[in-house]
Amino acid sequence: MDLPQPDPGPGEVLVRLAAAGLNPIDWKIADGMFGDALPVSFPLVMGTDGAGEVLAIGAGVRRFTIGDAVFGQFQRPERGGGSYCELALADEDRIAHAARSVTYATSAALPTAGMTAYNLVEETRIGEGRRVLIVGATGGVGTFATQIAAGRGAEVIATARPAKAELMRTLGAAETVDHTAGSVADQVLAAHPDGVDVLIDMVGGPEEFAKLTRTVRDGGIAVSLIGSADADELTDHNLRGFNFVNRPSPQLLEILAGQVDAGRLTVLVGREVPLEEAPEALAASRTGRAQGKTVLAI
Ligand SMILES: NC(=O)c1ccc[n+]([C@@H]2O[C@H](COP(=O)([O-])OP(=O)(O)OC[C@H]3O[C@@H](n4cnc5c(N)ncnc54)[C@H](OP(=O)(O)O)[C@@H]3O)[C@@H](O)[C@H]2O)c1
Repeated sequence: MDLPQPDPGPGEVLVRLAAAGLNPIDWKIADGMFGDALPVSFPLVMGTDGAGEVLAIGAGVRRFTIGDAVFGQFQRPERGGGSYCELALADEDRIAHAARSVTYATSAALPTAGMTAYNLVEETRIGEGRRVLIVGATGGVGTFATQIAAGRGAEVIATARPAKAELMRTLGAAETVDHTAGSVADQVLAAHPDGVDVLIDMVGGPEEFAKLTRTVRDGGIAVSLIGSADADELTDHNLRGFNFVNRPSPQLLEILAGQVDAGRLTVLVGREVPLEEAPEALAASRTGRAQGKTVLAI
């Protein structure tokens, strides 16, 4: 639908978007999955991630000027704002200058999944010599998390169908486990009876997550991205567990853009489709079978 051109208020930036990145949270918000915890106002523009050019700035904006190439998070459901549109407002501290070496489509694929992956690696203190199991590794968050963890010297075990195994190794995975070929936990424990130091699970419900935690050695860390961790139960099993909540920041966006420009982080855009095909792209995301990131060209 056509909406009036928004005017940037204090601390806001108006961006002419060239691309929007698709994340599962987009359809979760549309489904009302967060209930009263996330108030929305209508008409509600869907979409979180985007990239484009600054068209206007509001009072007090210091970090950007008209014409800057920017990327970041445009989701403001309480004000009806999102990134699946041509002109979007962003709070100044939700965006950053885009990487110079890549297209807007690539930049739009980076914010939410990239920041999530970076924070996951930080919060689980993944580093040299740590063995990490990433379940859901071939998706948006997983492909970034694999690279960042491996870049810090961790030994990454990534879930991947056989067709994706080679790709995950090029991203830095030490080995892959085929999640379509039986229990991931059994396969990992057969190869590594001493277990892993950190489990990052993007896909399992509470029962699946509990099974996966069998792979974590005594004193290790188990994280769920979808609220499946029961911290008390994990403590009883001598594990530290938590449900991850992302903490976005402009500094983090800058770090990610810098890593892309330095060639240290690869953004895998699996599909690029016109904005008009957003409904079909969202339907594909709902199947949980996304390969790399999906980007909507605006
Ligand atoms: N808590 C937070 O702050 C936070 C932040 C970001 C994302 N998330 C959530 O994290 C989840 C992942 O996000 P995403 O953007 O990475 O999703 P995505 O891009 O849609 O990726 C999904 C991936 O999961 C894989 N997969 C599906 N079932 C699997 C299974 N049983 N075992 C192993 N892999 C499996 C798929 O590979 P195959 O098709 O090959 O199976 C696909 O590559 C979403 O639910 C999202 O909402 C949470």
